[in-house]
Amino acid sequence: SVTRKPLIAGNWKMNLDHLQAVAFVQKLHWTLKDAAHETDSVEVAVFPPFTDIRTVQTLIDADKIPFALGAQDVSTKDSGAYTGEVSGAFLKKLDVDYVIIGHSERREYHGETDEVVAAKVQAALRHGLVPVICVGETLEQREESGPTAVSVAQLRAALEGVPSDADVVVAYEPVWAIGTGQVASPEQAQEVCAALRTVLSESLGDAAAERTRILYGGSVKSGNIASFMREPDVDGALVGGASLLADEFAAIIRYQK
Ligand code: G3P
Repeated sequence: SVTRKPLIAGNWKMNLDHLQAVAFVQKLHWTLKDAAHETDSVEVAVFPPFTDIRTVQTLIDADKIPFALGAQDVSTKDSGAYTGEVSGAFLKKLDVDYVIIGHSERREYHGETDEVVAAKVQAALRHGLVPVICVGETLEQREESGPTAVSVAQLRAALEGVPSDADVVVAYEPVWAIGTGQVASPEQAQEVCAALRTVLSESLGDAAAERTRILYGGSVKSGNIASFMREPDVDGALVGGASLLADEFAAIIRYQK
């Protein structure tokens, strides 16, 4: 849409240590600069592992690199005896803007339920972080209950208690398309993203639905990004594997060119 600024987000998952992160962010920055990328047409965000965040933040700050910074998870708790957890307050202090919540890998490997996801959304909002709420169905669920039911239910649950003026991002990531190379068609992405926009309007109101960005994620590459961005309810992409290659990620960011 013309009113929503596209967001191209790179979810590094458990890749790149803090030294590799510096080299990568610099390379991406220079690749975009060399290509004379207009930084205000698309918002770029990187989501490194926790251990990289301080280093990446320092680099972004020192070199005035126009990338937003995100974390891949946040604790439901704010502080205290929760070994291994990272609080939203700590992330905010490092100038983190976004936090991915409810990624299918967290739901699958760490047993995150809709309740945990909703509590993490609340934690992010309490600390002024923008939650990137991930939803999506497995192939089995798609066959059983159709393309939209799972994502719609997951988003409804995540938005429980969220105020209508909250700043959130939604990411539709069909599990069967993540890291498989089996990309959804633009029509399939649009169908679910449109249903998610209806949920936004029911849960948060029409104004929120109109301004909130909905991303597609799952095997996004430079060769398919433009076809997704042409869909009216797709406002950007959450990119995994292809976000680790500076040239490829830069080409995704420059999809309009
Ligand atoms: O969060 C992004 C993601 O799960 C998609 O991964 O590797 O299919 O782009 P990939």
